[in-house]
Amino acid sequence: MSKPDVAALSMDPALLARARQSFLAEVGTEAQAELATRFDRHAPRLLHWLSKLYGRQPMFERWLLSLCTTLGTLARARPPVLCELDRERERDPDWFIHEKRVGYCAYVDRFGGDLNGVAERVDYLENLGVGYLHLLPFLQARTGDSDGGFAVASFEAIEPALGNMSDLEQLATRLRKARISLCADLVLNHVADEHPWAVAAMQGDQHYRSYFHLFSDRRVPNRYEQTVAQIFPQTAPGNFTYNDALRSWVWTTFYPYQWDLNYAYPPVFASIAFALLKLANRGVEIFRLDSAPFLWKRLGTPCTNLPEVHHILSALRAIVGMVAPGVLLKAEAIVASTDLLPYLGVGETLGSECHLAYHSGLMAASWTALGEGRTTLLRQLLDSTPTLPAHTGWMTYVRCHDDIVWGVLRSDVEAAGDDFTQRIGNAAAFLEGRRPGSFGHGVAFQSTDGNAVHGTNGMAATLVGLDSADNADALRRFALMYGLAFAVGTVPLLYMGDELAQPSNDAHDDAGLMALDGRWAQRPRLDLARLQQRFDGNTIAGKAYAAIKALIAARNDASFDPCATVETLDCHNEALLAIRRGERFTVVFNFSDKPQPVDWTGLHAGDGWTTLLQTADDAAIDAGILPAWAMVWRKKP
Ligand code: GLC
Repeated sequence: MSKPDVAALSMDPALLARARQSFLAEVGTEAQAELATRFDRHAPRLLHWLSKLYGRQPMFERWLLSLCTTLGTLARARPPVLCELDRERERDPDWFIHEKRVGYCAYVDRFGGDLNGVAERVDYLENLGVGYLHLLPFLQARTGDSDGGFAVASFEAIEPALGNMSDLEQLATRLRKARISLCADLVLNHVADEHPWAVAAMQGDQHYRSYFHLFSDRRVPNRYEQTVAQIFPQTAPGNFTYNDALRSWVWTTFYPYQWDLNYAYPPVFASIAFALLKLANRGVEIFRLDSAPFLWKRLGTPCTNLPEVHHILSALRAIVGMVAPGVLLKAEAIVASTDLLPYLGVGETLGSECHLAYHSGLMAASWTALGEGRTTLLRQLLDSTPTLPAHTGWMTYVRCHDDIVWGVLRSDVEAAGDDFTQRIGNAAAFLEGRRPGSFGHGVAFQSTDGNAVHGTNGMAATLVGLDSADNADALRRFALMYGLAFAVGTVPLLYMGDELAQPSNDAHDDAGLMALDGRWAQRPRLDLARLQQRFDGNTIAGKAYAAIKALIAARNDASFDPCATVETLDCHNEALLAIRRGERFTVVFNFSDKPQPVDWTGLHAGDGWTTLLQTADDAAIDAGILPAWAMVWRKKP
């Protein structure tokens, strides 16, 4: 697919020329040619989107030129080793696709204590086969409750208990040596009420008041509330919080202490872009753009996924292209599948938005399939997943630090002609141990009134009922869920503790946190006893670890083509899901509790094909039977 014609972008050529001068001012002759080339390649898009967003604002030109001057300064400050990485990745923009990297996601304190402790675990990650480490928020958070660090009090400092900026740089360097890219959250939708911008706003500074959405009375908020959904309807109802110092209602999509930023005010965009680039210059290679869908508000709309959100992300992408082209952007957009693809760039933002996006619909549909024992929704979702734009990929996952957000499936379930609450409510209840035959022990999130279906919490092992080493069924369910993510994804993501089948958190020292927010169920500390057991095949940890290692090895086989499109095959059996990826790779999954016959010849994976990985005995497979919850990966040598 080609990128949109730069000539078709609307911008003032004279302004572009002045912006170029500002960007290149004071760049030494050595870097000049390279930066000029990058500017010419990406700045037309940057100006196009910024003119669209802010072009009518007074002082737009002055603001834009000063933005470009600072971008030039940040480009000059980029360390040589990162500049070298930029060049490599500019030459090979598909590096993160064909390198078959596997991701790993963890909280710094729960995984290693602090940043230096994480550095000590790099060998562990390397041996596991990880090539991408997402550390959940580690910047300075507000005091007290901070939504697990997602209430950022400073973009310039590390949370003191976790270390300092020099620890971060050292960790990034250590990881890079191990060919592991460091991914960090960029919480760009909101800041903590303790952030200096919020503090200045409370002190009456008009400039910083403009950083937020403030309303003197409830009239406008009430109108917004008619169309805007609630993220935490039980623990943080509503989207606005009254603040005495501001003498206003402030927009707070998430918790009352997380204040949404007002991207209609250009300095907000600039501040966030600079925060991103400064962290990139410290060695962060991938940014998880937290809560990306919420960046723009308009009355009468859900205030998510609005076109301006995509303009902002495209402008950020252009900035990354100009200053730190080795960096990747990953969208955290937990939205309906129909709204998801635009985050990877389609239409006017084709190929110029995020590089990666979480496939949240696939994750929720795979849990639905396990809860229902049939794969219809999963297949429907895979079939309706559009082809990826060039140089982009899906991040697939089984669990993360958040709940399974069921709402992402609403439109798919309704398209199938089913009632969302009834169908997904049943699947969720099954995974939560509330149906006959349930094996899962998940916990409902924000939906304890029994009728609403919101989210489900729990670690993967708990949701699949894996609580003893001799539970072969549960072990197969565990491998099945990760098997799907590994077979379908561009970059599959392991969630810390899953490789050791850690169960949900019920630690007493986390009781306070769990009472505040049920999502702490899936945020346990790394279990050091299990870590020791990982090579012992008689333990649950050992069995889970071996299952994950086998999946990583199978993905590394030459038959697995990460660039190939995934398509489903017809099994004529709702219990099964068969996928093909390229010409030489096919997998069949049995999501039901009964053995199912598989016709390999009918799936064109019979003669001449061999088994790459299986989670069942040879005898069954040879007899053409796929046992309950088993999967078989086949390849054409
Ligand atoms: C993202 C995070 C979630 C957090 C929210 C607000 O969705 O994954 O944990 O609560 O953003 O920052």
